[in-house]
Amino acid sequence: MKIFLAGASGAIGGHLVTQLVARGHEVVGTTRTPAKLGALRDLGAQAVVVDALDPESVAEAVAKAEPEVVVHQMTALGGPPDFRHAKRMAAATDRLRIEGTDHLLAAARAVGVRKFVAQSNALWAAQTGPGLADDNVAIEPNPPADVRESVDALRHVEAAVTGITWGDGIALRYGGFYGPGTGLSAEPGAVMAQQIRERKFPIVGNGAGVWSMVHIVDAASATVAAVERGTAGIYNVADDDPAPVSVWLPELARCLGAKPPRRIPAWLVRLIAGQGPVHLMTRARGISSAKAKRELGWTLRYPSWRTGFREGLG
Ligand SMILES: NC(=O)c1ccc[n+]([C@@H]2O[C@H](COP(=O)([O-])OP(=O)(O)OC[C@H]3O[C@@H](n4cnc5c(N)ncnc54)[C@H](OP(=O)(O)O)[C@@H]3O)[C@@H](O)[C@H]2O)c1
Repeated sequence: MKIFLAGASGAIGGHLVTQLVARGHEVVGTTRTPAKLGALRDLGAQAVVVDALDPESVAEAVAKAEPEVVVHQMTALGGPPDFRHAKRMAAATDRLRIEGTDHLLAAARAVGVRKFVAQSNALWAAQTGPGLADDNVAIEPNPPADVRESVDALRHVEAAVTGITWGDGIALRYGGFYGPGTGLSAEPGAVMAQQIRERKFPIVGNGAGVWSMVHIVDAASATVAAVERGTAGIYNVADDDPAPVSVWLPELARCLGAKPPRRIPAWLVRLIAGQGPVHLMTRARGISSAKAKRELGWTLRYPSWRTGFREGLG
């Protein structure tokens, strides 16, 4: 198939280009950055510069590519790990999830695309219920006020994409990425790994929030499966071993050769960073990816982060 991959130069984008090309697909991949075009071509994609917030730029690139499938993997989460930057990154990512999605959908519809696959995130699947969240669980309706806009943006991308009537609209709720090319790898410059080494990524409160993780190679293979076999709707994409932050974070620190994470009281984090991070660290709920395995035939190279952290950090 011919696939237009918006965000091909990002953490999942590179792995996705490699896997799609290996499966015999033709990929047109985007970046905003001309200096990254060569690297995308080296992976086997046709590479184009697109600004997702400029509807004409998007429409022109999609029309020229004439794809059968459009994949939206654009976020703006790369950058220095300070609090002010985190707020800017969240706002930029929200725009990509709202305006970026809408421009891409309009461009895709105009050229008769028959499938649209977009990135969502598992962390804000309604997390107050018991047990693991399946793919039918709504996005959290009552998030803390300081993260409301970002949660609304996730809701937008999911609703806009799965609501299309002219093709199959698929939203993939990924667990936390780790592995080569992500911020959580053993490679130099991996931002979250560096924070963990510097003990700047603490366990907040009781650390009872349950996170689902997914190795980036598995996240990419689930996406390929969705491109090839997915039908309209939401698919959770994470490993089989959701675990509380208080369990996986110390093990991750150990695998990175770092000292154990610090523990910080919830009230202090609430004061500095708001209720959103406290909520995720103390109340988040893991997800079940049974549907993706059942319907897409997806199998994981790393069914548990325990092996993934030991062997797959890159
Ligand atoms: N589920 C998860 O855990 C999850 C999900 C996403 C990201 N992350 C993490 O967040 C960090 C950053 O992610 P990342 O490496 O993928 O980088 P990123 O900075 O989030 O960029 C991702 C992609 O979006 C593109 N993009 C951003 N703004 C754009 C715009 N206005 N128009 C067009 N394209 C735009 C980027 O293009 P350019 O080449 O121009 O930058 C890139 O291809 C990593 O540590 C990653 O692991 C985690």
